[in-house]
Amino acid sequence: MGKLAIITGSGQGIGEGIAHRLAADGFAIAVADINPQTSKKVAKVLINKGFEAKDYVVDVANRSAVFKLVAQAVEDFGELAVFVNNAGIAFIDSIVDSDSEKIERLFDVNIKGTYWGIQAAATQLKKQGHGGRIINAASLASVEGSALQSAYSASKFAVRGLTQSAAKELAKDHITVNAYNPGIVRTAMRDTIDKKTAQIKGISIEEQQQNCLNEIYLGREGKPEDVAEVVAWFASDAAEYITGQSILVDGGMRFH
Ligand SMILES: NC(=O)c1ccc[n+]([C@@H]2O[C@H](COP(=O)([O-])OP(=O)(O)OC[C@H]3O[C@@H](n4cnc5c(N)ncnc54)[C@H](O)[C@@H]3O)[C@@H](O)[C@H]2O)c1
Repeated sequence: MGKLAIITGSGQGIGEGIAHRLAADGFAIAVADINPQTSKKVAKVLINKGFEAKDYVVDVANRSAVFKLVAQAVEDFGELAVFVNNAGIAFIDSIVDSDSEKIERLFDVNIKGTYWGIQAAATQLKKQGHGGRIINAASLASVEGSALQSAYSASKFAVRGLTQSAAKELAKDHITVNAYNPGIVRTAMRDTIDKKTAQIKGISIEEQQQNCLNEIYLGREGKPEDVAEVVAWFASDAAEYITGQSILVDGGMRFH
């Protein structure tokens, strides 16, 4: 079995948290991001801690670049074990005013990017012939559509659909495909969401954040580490019999 874990969008935020968690579990980490500065930084920190890691630049919306990423990382670290389709983008606007270019780019990154990641990872894992794990970033917004996030919600519903379809098709190859649904995790993405939502609603950022907090039964926002725990479990032997599932990591916001 390989020990390589490729994590897209791992230059910051949730992906960075997943990189650290999977490194601690003994995986060699391909820190893949569209931002070469942040991915380099994360890989350096991991290496300084004594872990195996390397940074890669990729735009997940570019299919051939995603296939190249897998080929390069396999050349560097050997067989692929885990592929995490974590990269994603969001924007806030009303459904009527949403800009068509922003919608297209969001679908390209969140939907097609995940599709290419599944294709590239599954092709490699099938070739290796002894299974593996594909883990996708969906969202609370994949379970219930969010106001002011129509394109984002649509894309994350699509990620959950892709997860289920891929799980059914790839089960015979012992490849499991699962998804994580973060609620509100304090990252750069969340800062941007809160700022624009507050602006549209005509409230302060503090009020916006408090309104969100009021919805969380466990009484605090999520941390990248909370999400990384679930991803590490999906990647572990303990989750061998779990496929096609998505797990809410939201501190108790929705009870589906
Ligand atoms: N933060 C939350 O509250 C939250 C909630 C639900 C779901 N999510 C999902 O979790 C994932 C990570 O979110 P985050 O909060 O850490 O976001 P973030 O914006 O802090 O980090 C995302 C990372 O992905 C990279 N990226 C963006 N586009 C890319 C592309 N085309 N190719 C490669 N890399 C790209 C960015 O450079 C960045 O490093 C996303 O898929 C997001 O939709 C986040």
